Amino acid sequence: MRSARILIVEDNLIVARDIERQLMGIGHSVVGMTGRGEDALRLALSTQPELVLMDIRLEGPVDGVDAAEQIRRYCHVPVVFLTAYADDETVRRASLTEPFGYLLKPFEDIQLRTVIEMALYKHGAERKLRDSERRFVTTLSSIGDAVIATDNQARVTFMNPVAESLTGWPQSEAVGRPLTEVFHIAHEETRKTVEDPAAKIMRLGTVVGLANHTVLLARDGREIPIDDCGAPIIDDQGATAGAVLVFRDITQRRRAEEALRASQATLVHATRLTTMGELVASIAHELNQPLMAIVTNAETCLQWLSGAKPDLDEARKAAERAVRNGHRAGDVIRSVRALVRKSSSGMTLLDMNGMIVEILDLMRAEIRRHEVVLSTELLPSVEPVWADRVQIEQVLVNLIMNAVETMSLVVDRPRALHISSEGDADNVLVAIADSGSGIELSKTDQIFEAFFTTKPEGMGMGLSICRSILEAHRGHIWASPNRPHGSIMRFTLPAAKNGASDESSS
Ligand SMILES: Nc1ncnc2c1ncn2[C@@H]1O[C@H](COP(=O)(O)OP(=O)(O)OP(=O)(O)O)[C@@H](O)[C@H]1O
Ligand SMILES: [Mg+2]
Repeated sequence: MRSARILIVEDNLIVARDIERQLMGIGHSVVGMTGRGEDALRLALSTQPELVLMDIRLEGPVDGVDAAEQIRRYCHVPVVFLTAYADDETVRRASLTEPFGYLLKPFEDIQLRTVIEMALYKHGAERKLRDSERRFVTTLSSIGDAVIATDNQARVTFMNPVAESLTGWPQSEAVGRPLTEVFHIAHEETRKTVEDPAAKIMRLGTVVGLANHTVLLARDGREIPIDDCGAPIIDDQGATAGAVLVFRDITQRRRAEEALRASQATLVHATRLTTMGELVASIAHELNQPLMAIVTNAETCLQWLSGAKPDLDEARKAAERAVRNGHRAGDVIRSVRALVRKSSSGMTLLDMNGMIVEILDLMRAEIRRHEVVLSTELLPSVEPVWADRVQIEQVLVNLIMNAVETMSLVVDRPRALHISSEGDADNVLVAIADSGSGIELSKTDQIFEAFFTTKPEGMGMGLSICRSILEAHRGHIWASPNRPHGSIMRFTLPAAKNGASDESSS
């Protein structure tokens, strides 16, 4: 048995001394003694006993019952009453102070010992229960979710502050009421009342996620979208003693979801606009060259016709070039659209060298106007490629235009454009070399980005279009310096093996 610190309140000094001796005999210590009820509380506070032995009948204004009540209220120390005789009324009053035991005077050591042990044990157990209840209430009160507990009749037994504020019912008013009255939920769209969740939980006997799309109809008329789930409370005998509901306000989450959906829609729209913007820019860019060529050729044609002796042959050739460039303009629109749609409908087997010759013929006037000297070295080893003719022509046109444009500023050396092709069984390689200003090493990647330009009139679309086209054809394009001046733009395309493409069906 453990030793306890005990306070004795007994107005008969002889009896008090006797009890003190008994207590010490069984191993307890006496921390204080008084015969006056009015001193009991003060003494209990100052000596901090673990138990008080209290004579019920004390002389003076504060009797044992009153003193016990004061101690119970302010000290949480168990009180055991000592009594020789008490009338019914006193016993009734005493029982209201929730005493931890009675001892009938005179008593034996063994009775004293048993009653003290029982009182200390009961008090310890009650304290543990109180602590765990406090922990439980503190936890439920401080969590962010709303919690309502019911008994097995689905009547409210507990609500935490979040549940109080969401339902609009204070716990004090809600306790004892049917759950459905306090926690009134309906289907968000149909407005039909949803089955009493506590009843459902108790019927199913397991943890349940409750209906989706439920709104809580609060006492003050607010409608709050909620997410909820519940679990049965099972007692020691395995019987369902009630239910616990946990729910939360999902208004914020709803709003966030809606905002997300809205921004996704905006993004799709913006992406479409960007694609459209690039499409428009690409078409404008690609149409520029054939239009310029039409004008140049038409002017050339007029010049051949306007002389004293018109050269009809040259005039006809220039007019033919104007017509071909006109057709090309139409083809370009179709091919840019195909490129943006990533369609491969225009794919045919093409001879790269033939295409280079054809394009140089179409661009002849332009090249000549810029006083550029052209040379070519087109090797016969070049295999055919499987490609969209107009698109590959666009690549050639854009690269040749860039080369011509960069050389238009060159005045102190020849303006030399050299176009070469070579190939092996797998790839075709085309190089367009110029003697222009060259490309800064740090910019050799950047120049392929859409809208990157260093020219006052440039759109910055030419190389970005080239790269899109070549990547769509599983080819590559890159820039490197030329010696002693200028740059070389190279691109490759896969050779169409055995005269057919593995992509022909895509
Ligand atoms: N052969 C070249 N020599 C030097 N710089 C070049 C050459 N080719 C391209 N560049 C650089 O790359 C930039 C981008 O070229 P790109 O063809 O994409 O656009 P751009 O020629 O400026 O305008 P546009 O859209 O009218 O073609 C050019 O502004 C230029 O600075
Ligand atoms: Mg360009």
